[in-house]
Amino acid sequence: MNLKQKIRYKINPFNIVIFGGDGDLSKRKIVPALFHRYAAKQLNVDFNIYCISRSSNDEEQFKTVLREFIVKTNHKGSKEKATDEFLKHVKLLQIKKNSDAFYADLKNSLDENAERQRVFYFSVPSSAFSEICGTLRSSGLVNDSSKVVLEKPLGHDLKSSQSINAIISSTFKEKQIFRIDHYLGKETVQNIMVLRFANHLFERAWNAENIENIQITVSESLGVEKRAGYYDNTGALLDMIQNHLLQLLCLIAMEPPASLNPDSVRNEKVKVLQSLRLFKPSTIKGNVVRGQYTRGANGNEKLNSYLEDIEKYNSETESFVAIKAYIDNWRWKNVPIYLRTGKRMKKRYSDIVINFKELPHNIFPDSEHRLRNKLIIRLQPEERIELVQLSKIPGPGGYRFKPISLKLDFIDSFKDPMPRAYERLIIDIIRGNQTLFMRHDELEAAWNWIESISAFWNKEIPLSLYESGTWGPGDEILEKNTKWETKDSK
Ligand code: BG6
Repeated sequence: MNLKQKIRYKINPFNIVIFGGDGDLSKRKIVPALFHRYAAKQLNVDFNIYCISRSSNDEEQFKTVLREFIVKTNHKGSKEKATDEFLKHVKLLQIKKNSDAFYADLKNSLDENAERQRVFYFSVPSSAFSEICGTLRSSGLVNDSSKVVLEKPLGHDLKSSQSINAIISSTFKEKQIFRIDHYLGKETVQNIMVLRFANHLFERAWNAENIENIQITVSESLGVEKRAGYYDNTGALLDMIQNHLLQLLCLIAMEPPASLNPDSVRNEKVKVLQSLRLFKPSTIKGNVVRGQYTRGANGNEKLNSYLEDIEKYNSETESFVAIKAYIDNWRWKNVPIYLRTGKRMKKRYSDIVINFKELPHNIFPDSEHRLRNKLIIRLQPEERIELVQLSKIPGPGGYRFKPISLKLDFIDSFKDPMPRAYERLIIDIIRGNQTLFMRHDELEAAWNWIESISAFWNKEIPLSLYESGTWGPGDEILEKNTKWETKDSK
């Protein structure tokens, strides 16, 4: 048995029902992810994918569109035969006005292979959850091995997220619920756990005694694109910080879990979220910045302002947020943790920078550099880990030195293309492994902290405008001697 076979745990036959099955996410991510696992021969079991549509029953046309998306996301060139075979497993079902009849038909289809596990994927706004859950339940479609997958946003505050949870839990038990955050499916994000808990070197230094600050940045060069309606009601705080950046923070800051068991990992993550220092009206100023992009340029390309992109005269919605956060526990006492995300910034990249403390004594008086190390975990677009250390510049002239990176580029070390986030997550769902999915108490703790910001930032924090194609605002929240780490930083 070779290594690849060894690491592929068995998966059981399944049917996946995607509500919003002809929507953007389904066509771009969910179905192509299933295809890629199929082409990698991981789905060598019986399965069907039922894509539920409100508007169409033209399966041929739908498959033509799916084929285009599959080709677009194909790492290894054309796999026409595999695509043809795969698409035989895909069915488009139009939900009719009389939804009882529709669900009865769906039940008949699923009952043809009653032994297969059922995954219900809710790729629809949470306002539709109640009706879907109610009908799934009353039609007898949910059994003990069924699973439900929920996409964000799960609410807009703690209260609405609790009501969504109540609706879902009226039909599914917590062990059947998979709250997806696609950042947790990224290989480089999962590698944070390995970096920390499979290497002796870093964990010893991973604390307030040795670390000066941590910066987590998700910088996007694109604007709101075609999602103006959704985005203008959401903003960067809820779209990115509440989920993706907080999940990254959890993995960076959590205590070593006792095992990889889903609850061991999630117990540690929830403790981080519960230890985040809540903001008060008096502390939010100087620690939180929100911004919105104006017109700008990227080389010769002229870039619109946010208001032009959303086609409105006025909006207070932020496309950028920077926060200086603290985790009130022993390990992280008084270590500033900077979270920063924005759209239409200078470059697209995401990384986590751990800035270690300066050495206690400098024996190189002429040095223009601060004597400290930096660990950069670059999540995208290149996947790499860099340890920045100071090295002597060879030659006479005393001790002149410069920062040099020890680099581990994933692309050089691992030749196979990395599976995309949704591939890993969907396979975990089918296998029933919840480690990479949020538990309801994690979500509540995240909302609790986010509310301490969103509740009064409109009053306390004016919107800072930043030019498209720049690194955005936010210098005022930095500690003395600290600068934002950017992709251009040395
Ligand atoms: C999504 C947000 O969850 O993540 C988008 O809704 C954002 O606004 C996207 O662009 C970023 O994901 P990635 O994987 O491209 O960094």
